Amino acid sequence: MAEAVLSERSDPSPELQLRSLSIDPPLFLAPMAGLTHSALRQIIAGYGGVGLLSTEMLAARRLPTENPRLSPWIIRTDAERPMSWQLLISGVAEVRPAINALHRLGADAIDLNMGCPAPAVSRVGAGAKLMEHPDEVRRIVAEARCLTGLPLTAKIRLGNELDEGKLRAFCTMLQGEGIDLISVHARLNHESFARAPRWEWVGKIKQWVTIPVIVNGGVFSVEDARNCLQATGADGLMLGRGAVIRPWLFAEIAREIYGCPIEKPVVVLSELYQRFIDLLTELYLPERRLGRLKEFTHYFARNYQFGHLLASKVQSSLSVEEARARAADFFSRNPSLHE
Ligand SMILES: Cc1cc2nc3c(=O)[nH]c(=O)nc-3n(C[C@H](O)[C@H](O)[C@H](O)COP(=O)(O)O)c2cc1C
Repeated sequence: MAEAVLSERSDPSPELQLRSLSIDPPLFLAPMAGLTHSALRQIIAGYGGVGLLSTEMLAARRLPTENPRLSPWIIRTDAERPMSWQLLISGVAEVRPAINALHRLGADAIDLNMGCPAPAVSRVGAGAKLMEHPDEVRRIVAEARCLTGLPLTAKIRLGNELDEGKLRAFCTMLQGEGIDLISVHARLNHESFARAPRWEWVGKIKQWVTIPVIVNGGVFSVEDARNCLQATGADGLMLGRGAVIRPWLFAEIAREIYGCPIEKPVVVLSELYQRFIDLLTELYLPERRLGRLKEFTHYFARNYQFGHLLASKVQSSLSVEEARARAADFFSRNPSLHE
């Protein structure tokens, strides 16, 4: 059975204890392919306020042969702790080699991806597709639980359609097999970001299980965070795009909602962006840098009224240095929405 417990503190934040891992405050970075790599994680960790960082989804099949010194999916520094590693799993046979690899890599927690609806992921029976096969999920979780003493978490969406019975059975099965925490991206599998997240469904899940439930989806500000926690009664928040646009958002939420003793973040966007490029350059092989810069810029540009210009200038750049120069030119002409 799961060993997660919540211990109340005098401030509004219950610290989350998952086995031997303390998550304080209960603020989680969402796994995001192409985005939650070491460069972004270091920037987020630098502002503070994040309780648990995350990798992007890692194909369990490929993980055991990745080179930890060169692979952009695996590289991480000591500053990025604690960190959860997310596995994309298609079947039970992949579990043992992947978990052995994560033990070697020094994972602090392991997350199982049960929510990614991308067609390429569904085709191999992984991600959100897994929720259609609860018996296979049961075997995967049981095997994983047997092999690791690390916190084992599951990230889900709400399913293919709104079906309380099915969702409840799935979540209680996860808990029964030893999952320590469930994070919920509060949308159905086919729903795009254009639709408002269904936070009220996370509130339902919270009533059905005793392990911690973390709400994810649609939090871009301290006010959103407050509303989301109030609407769901969740045990914590997971931030995705909001933390890419504003890597200091964790620090703001930690300060203003959880009363954490963190300095008010001082943000100079142009410096943040240049630091991001420096980190990409320091960490990754040249051919791995530009794509990651473009992906980040797509979100970061939303801090500017005319951010689409920044995004398109970087998008059409042929090298990181060209992108850096174009971005510097943009910053010199455009105040951010925060200045
Ligand atoms: C570019 C991108 C990549 C993503 N990759 C993953 C992933 O690797 N694993 C996963 O579980 N979810 C992934 N997601 C979903 C996010 O973790 C999160 O559930 C979703 O973005 C909703 O949260 P938000 O509104 O805070 O962004 C991804 C989302 C985006 C935008």
